[in-house]
Amino acid sequence: MVLGIESSCDETAVALVTSDRRILAQRIASQEEEHAPYGGVVPEIAARAHAQRLAPMLEAVLGDAGLSLDAVDAIAATAGPGLIGGVMVGLVSGKALAMASGKPLIAVNHLEGHALSPRLADETLGFPYLLLLVSGGHCQILSVEGVGTYRRLATTIDDALGEAFDKTAKILGLGYPGGPKVERLAMEGDPKSVPLPRPLKGSKEPHFSFAGLKSAVLRAHESGDHSDADIAASFQQAAVDCLIDRLEKALGQAGPHPALVVAGGVAANQVIRSALEALASRHQMQFVAPPLQLCTDNAAMIAWAGCERLIQTPDFAGDPLDLKARPRWPL
Ligand code: KG4
Ligand code: ZN
Repeated sequence: MVLGIESSCDETAVALVTSDRRILAQRIASQEEEHAPYGGVVPEIAARAHAQRLAPMLEAVLGDAGLSLDAVDAIAATAGPGLIGGVMVGLVSGKALAMASGKPLIAVNHLEGHALSPRLADETLGFPYLLLLVSGGHCQILSVEGVGTYRRLATTIDDALGEAFDKTAKILGLGYPGGPKVERLAMEGDPKSVPLPRPLKGSKEPHFSFAGLKSAVLRAHESGDHSDADIAASFQQAAVDCLIDRLEKALGQAGPHPALVVAGGVAANQVIRSALEALASRHQMQFVAPPLQLCTDNAAMIAWAGCERLIQTPDFAGDPLDLKARPRWPL
């Protein structure tokens, strides 16, 4: 049983997860309201909010499960990548709990949490699988070959896809966080109405680029020739086309994988999910999309990454307590 702590962006989260895939208790406190007036996450505000909320949440989660720290086998905390102030709050709390309880600390890469979370939801998902990780901070294609063995096939050369959704929302005056709002507005628009670019489509390496798409959205909006709904729908369609083209390229390079998995906050998007499902079916791959609450930032995925580590190395003594939080930490 692992206690997980997540604080790398704007969600403070704590969860208790067992190696047989039960989430015994979890709490997630979003900071959406604090950051909304600024149109994006303000690191200083985020760090303070994590510091205020984390200790009561840890007590609450243990209380919800009716357990004390004695029952826990290890404490897993996100150690990066992310906003450094927030990561430090969660990691220092994890270290303090580990020190006080004598239980091992497991420092988890936030991206590894996303990468392994589909296995928490679906016990049939074995290695290897092709993972599309799409969130506000990341846009990568990984071959997940085992716990701790990740081969990065592609990344973004500029913006992450969630960031592009958030910026599009800002341009259209929809507010923050933008992804769900753009998706909702897109339902009322025509995805073929606004000519928008598909950056890097057809290029040799499977990398992503979304900065040019965002600029094109801005120009389309400023031209006054299109409705906001048409822009939202056309933007979403361009994003889908880029994802599918790049995934096809990655599959061509990496060879067949039995499963295609999507994770990260953007995986909540239903249009993107459907397109990925169709791609998987064309390639005779199993398609796995974890439930939405596991796709966005949460602590169950961090606790689960800790479980996976302990299953792999049962006598793991723990990461050193002088380990540093890492704002950047490629998987
Ligand atoms: O994984 P996540 O919760 O946080 C990190 O960035 O690590 O992802 C949040 C991102 C935001 O950019 C948000 O706009 C995007 O996921 N997102 C969506 C949708 N729901 C959340 N993007 C497109 N469509 C959605 N329905
Ligand atoms: Zn995330």
